[in-house]
Amino acid sequence: MTDLSWPKLVSLACLAPSSHNTQPWRFRIRASRIDLLADRTRALPVNDPDDRELVISCGAALFKLRCAIAAAGQAADVATLPQADDPDCVAAVTARIEPPDHHLVLLASLAGARRTWRLPFTPRPVAPVVIDALIAAAAAEGARLVPIVGEDRRDEVAALVADGDRIQWQDSRWRRELAMWMHPRRSGDGLVVPALAQPVAQAVVRTFDLGNGVAAKDRDLAAHSPLLAVIATDDDGAGDWLRAGQALQRMLLVALELGLQASYLNQPIEVPALRPRLAALAGTAGSPQLLLRLGYPNGSLPATPRRPLEEVVEMAPGRT
Ligand SMILES: Cc1cc2nc3c(=O)[nH]c(=O)nc-3n(C[C@H](O)[C@H](O)[C@H](O)COP(=O)(O)O)c2cc1C
Repeated sequence: MTDLSWPKLVSLACLAPSSHNTQPWRFRIRASRIDLLADRTRALPVNDPDDRELVISCGAALFKLRCAIAAAGQAADVATLPQADDPDCVAAVTARIEPPDHHLVLLASLAGARRTWRLPFTPRPVAPVVIDALIAAAAAEGARLVPIVGEDRRDEVAALVADGDRIQWQDSRWRRELAMWMHPRRSGDGLVVPALAQPVAQAVVRTFDLGNGVAAKDRDLAAHSPLLAVIATDDDGAGDWLRAGQALQRMLLVALELGLQASYLNQPIEVPALRPRLAALAGTAGSPQLLLRLGYPNGSLPATPRRPLEEVVEMAPGRT
């Protein structure tokens, strides 16, 4: 990365979403490329035992790194999973002195404004032309965005989300893992809880099964979302997860370009018994990777914290 400022590139990549805001990535800076590494010390073994969401999160960071290189005025060559003997190296990205993809430059300019929007959306419907743009964004990265169409179908998916909530909250190991990632804002990662409420919130989550309450809330959010959609891939390996992550990030930034924000209702994918039922309801072949609700937000939200650059960057010995 001789001519490009790597701190700028990596800072933008780190704005990607990640499950529980774990930010499970590292960037190894070489003379002429950046390696993106999965940081499995930040895994969620109960919520995500195969590191599927961890690799999806890395895919989202990879897409943002590509946008950052475009914003710096260059094109990028990307090799995913470049080393068969090192599954933690999920991508090697080399900048090339050639004109950038101008749509990626535009998406880079929006990266700082994307938020996971867990609040209700305004009732404004999402027009078919907008849905088509989101489908095209996911397809450009080799994944499918499949809208859940029809009142009945949507209600069935919402019921599946509620089932997923109940199953996850009944598991004390899952609750403990969630509580471990509930931090005050200053910590740089995790799910933000105001400093004063944090010990109480953590203890409540760790100790009590709040499944029924969470299920009712999520069911309502799912049923009343202007758009409910699955991101699916053909297969279910690390390459598919990286594609899903890049598709997620491109789709979320295109959504933002069109005024939409999104949040996740992944419970029926995270609970293995429910995943085939979601695939059947979505009517999609292959593997559902993410379940999202999208709509027009009413207002804005503060950014969630990110770790300092020095925690996520390493210099390759000799910078080769
Ligand atoms: C693979 C993946 C899975 C996620 N799953 C959930 C989820 O199930 N529920 C949720 O509320 N947020 C989920 N998120 C959103 C993260 O919690 C969010 O990205 C993180 O807290 C950072 O906030 P931001 O997206 O506003 O930057 C997920 C994000 C990713 C990338």
